[in-house]
This record gives sequence, C-alpha cells and structure tokens, in this order.
Amino acid sequence: MKNKSNRIDERLIETLADGQFHSGQALADALGVSRTAINKHIDNLDALQLDVFRVHGKGYRLAQPLQLLKFDLIREQLREHQAPIYLKRVTSSTHDDLKQLLVDAPGKTLTPGTCVLAEMQTRGRGRRGRTWLSPFGSNLYASFYWPLPEGLNSALGLSVAVGLRLAQILEQAGIQGVSVKWPNDVYIQGAKVAGVLVELEGEPTGEGHALIGIGLNLSMPERFTQNIEQPYTDVQKHLDAPLNRHQWAVTLIRGVTDVLEQFRRHGLADLVTEWRRLDHFYNQPVNILLGQHVQQGVGQGIDNYGALLVRQGSGLKRYFGGEISIRARQ
Ligand code: ATP
Ligand code: BTN
Repeated sequence: MKNKSNRIDERLIETLADGQFHSGQALADALGVSRTAINKHIDNLDALQLDVFRVHGKGYRLAQPLQLLKFDLIREQLREHQAPIYLKRVTSSTHDDLKQLLVDAPGKTLTPGTCVLAEMQTRGRGRRGRTWLSPFGSNLYASFYWPLPEGLNSALGLSVAVGLRLAQILEQAGIQGVSVKWPNDVYIQGAKVAGVLVELEGEPTGEGHALIGIGLNLSMPERFTQNIEQPYTDVQKHLDAPLNRHQWAVTLIRGVTDVLEQFRRHGLADLVTEWRRLDHFYNQPVNILLGQHVQQGVGQGIDNYGALLVRQGSGLKRYFGGEISIRARQ
C-alpha cells in the first residue's frame, strides 16, 4: 500500500516538474485516482518541502520547475562504470543506504565504486554530525563504496583527493574563483559549494572500506538556507546557461571514480602541487581549531599523506585527523 502511495507521489512530482499549472481533475485522470486522493498526495509533497502553489480555478503548480534525475539516462551515459548505481528519490542519507546495502550483501562487500544518488535526504550529514541541507530535486547527494584492502590507514588523504577533483570539475565548467579547504570543502569565491564526508569501517591495518559522500550544491532554493551559518553558494549562480543536472551527476560519478582509482594507485603523490594551486589558505594566516584549543600559523598546503601543513614560528607542523578545522585569521 505504502509503495503504491509513494509511486503516485512520484508520478505527481514528475507531472508537476514542468512548473506549469495542472488542474486537480487532469491530475486525477492522469494518475487514475480521485480528486480527493490528489489533495492527499499534494499534502505529501508539502511534507517533502516542495513548494506547491494552489490557485482556485487553475490547479496546482510548483514554485519552480524541477529537473528530476532519470536513472536510465545516467546509467546509459556511464556504460563504463562497472559498479551498480542506485537512485533514490527520498532517503535519510545516501550513506545510510550504502551501509544497508553492505549489510544485505553476500560476503558483506560491494563492488568498488557502488554509488547511491538521491534527490533528497531527510537526515543529510556533514562532518562531526553537522547537518547537510538536502532539499528535493535541486542539488546532488551521492555516496560511494570504496574498499581499503590495506587497512584504514591507506585512506589518509582520501577526502583531499576527492575534494580536489570536485574543484577541478567546477573549473572545467568554466567557473572562476574555485578553491579547496582542508580537509573536505570546496568553495567558489569564498562561499562553500560542496563538501566531502569520508566514513571508515574496519581495522587500522586490516581490511576495511570507506564510504565517501559528496554534497554538491547545484541550485539551492533560497528558502532552505537560513540555517546555513556560513557563506554558501551553488553552481547555477556561477553559470550563464541553465545547468543540466544529468550531466553534472554523470561528471561527478565519473570524476570521483576516476580519482579514487588514481588515489588507489598513486596516493596523493601527483596531487599535492595541484592542491597548492587551489588551496584557499595557502600562505594565508590561519587559526587551527582543535576542540577547545586554537593554534595560529600560516597555511602551507598538504603533504603526500594529506596532512595539513602549517608554519608555526620557525617550524612546520603537520595536522592529521577528523577533529580539526581551519579558519581564516583576521
Ligand atoms: P570544517 O569542516 O572545517 O569544520 P564546516 O563548518 O564547513 O568546516 P562541515 O562539517 O565540513 O563544516 O560542513 C557542514 C557545514 O556546512 C554546516 O554546518 C553548514 O554550515 C554548511 N552546510 C550545510 N549544508 C550545506 C549545504 N547544502 N551547502 C553548503 N553548506 C552547507
Ligand atoms: C561536509 O562538508 O561536512 C560534508 C558534507 C557531505 C554531504 C554528503 S551528501 C551525500 C552524503 N550523505 C550524507 O548524509 N552526507 C554526504
């Protein structure tokens, strides 16, 4: 029953995605349900925080048209991608989906590069349990499975490699002022546009795997952004022509799997210089936040292991680990 109801919600969204008015009767006829049922399903769309206008005599329309992701189109364009790709409409977090896939998988392992994409996350998360705003049908949310047969230590620098590739993808789209912030953020003209979340499962030196999550703001609806407590942006603001979400999804999946493979073979060796070019804080005065403690220094990029390098006094200090944040020092 629930599935049938979800399916009607989906078809309703697909019909309204054009941003045009559709009368209640036309929707009822098209979806094979009563007008009363349409009202109920429209309420479900409200619960997804989709902005539905109701105008007497005209019917329903979305505040903005939506470009829904079509699974077949993405799969078709990624023929070379050997691993499964899943597309969820609504999920708690694509990371949770990957974890569930792992639990269900025979041998508790997945094909490297297995990817879950979603149109919306109800509990999208960033580092240290922070919220990642994930409204419906606007941005990209993706998680990838990547095995670490040499243990979790081999994942040092993984988020750096992925963040760097995202920055390169933005530059290749012609966007100016792209930069990266250690260890996991991507900026355009000083505003955050994407983040990378790496979760590791397994043993430090035994076998394990990484779940690599990426949130990329493509066109963030303004009404969701009051709670973002730092400058943020989206890709569309920096492009003249309307972006194609499919193209961005395909480019993201291709770019991330490619950089994961590069990282597996060569680590960060070829990426350190490129990081320096794009580093938001290279040669800049910074504060290093370590829990309650703050250290001051000057950003010096990263080393081959993805550690943050900071000049402090006459020495160069290396910082590792997930509990550290770097901020500009005024
Ligand atoms: P650091 O990782 O250095 O501590 P950070 O403040 O960016 O920096 P993260 O955990 O990396 O923290 O990212 C989560 C933060 O990103 C949120 O607290 C919020 O400020 C911001 N944020 C949440 N959702 C989005 C989004 N969709 N787009 C941009 N920023 C977002
Ligand atoms: C950050 O900047 O802190 C990282 C944000 C990562 C967000 C992505 S969206 C896909 C995946 N699922 C999640 O819940 N988080 C990551």
